[in-house]
Amino acid sequence: MSSEALNPELNPPHSSRRDSLIKIGTGLVAACYAGAAGYPVYRYLSTPVTRANEQGQVSTVSIPLKDLPGAGSATMFLFGSRPALLIHHADGRYVSFDAVCTHLGCTVKFEPRNSRIFCACHGGTYDMNTGAVIAGPPPRGLTNFKVEVADGHVTVSRA
Ligand code: FES
Repeated sequence: MSSEALNPELNPPHSSRRDSLIKIGTGLVAACYAGAAGYPVYRYLSTPVTRANEQGQVSTVSIPLKDLPGAGSATMFLFGSRPALLIHHADGRYVSFDAVCTHLGCTVKFEPRNSRIFCACHGGTYDMNTGAVIAGPPPRGLTNFKVEVADGHVTVSRA
């Protein structure tokens, strides 16, 4: 055996392999943290573009009346890739809104007991007839869809 093979400076023991694994592990953890912190920022910044793209894909959704709940309740459905809300008011009217809160994008829900559409994330409150903001941080009302009832179906389309 040569003297070079036994020289610890030329042939370091297991610690160099352990150091490499620690560096790789630290890099992976840092990448995960960067992804976890960066994704919400990316989502917030890209929301207007994403919204515009998504709204251009589907313009009409038709739902059979037999699949809908009775008056005084609401149902959620997908309008393209976005959640939407169809409210069947006690007086028989149907109204429909984009169900993505205009504040930071949480999904809103209809609260018939409180006669409102509510976002639980930060308390955003919308009018159940118009989608206008009543209280909380949302900067604007919910997008209002056109609703038609005919031939046993409720058809929701972009107004
Ligand atoms: S996301 Fe709806 S109130 Fe903040």
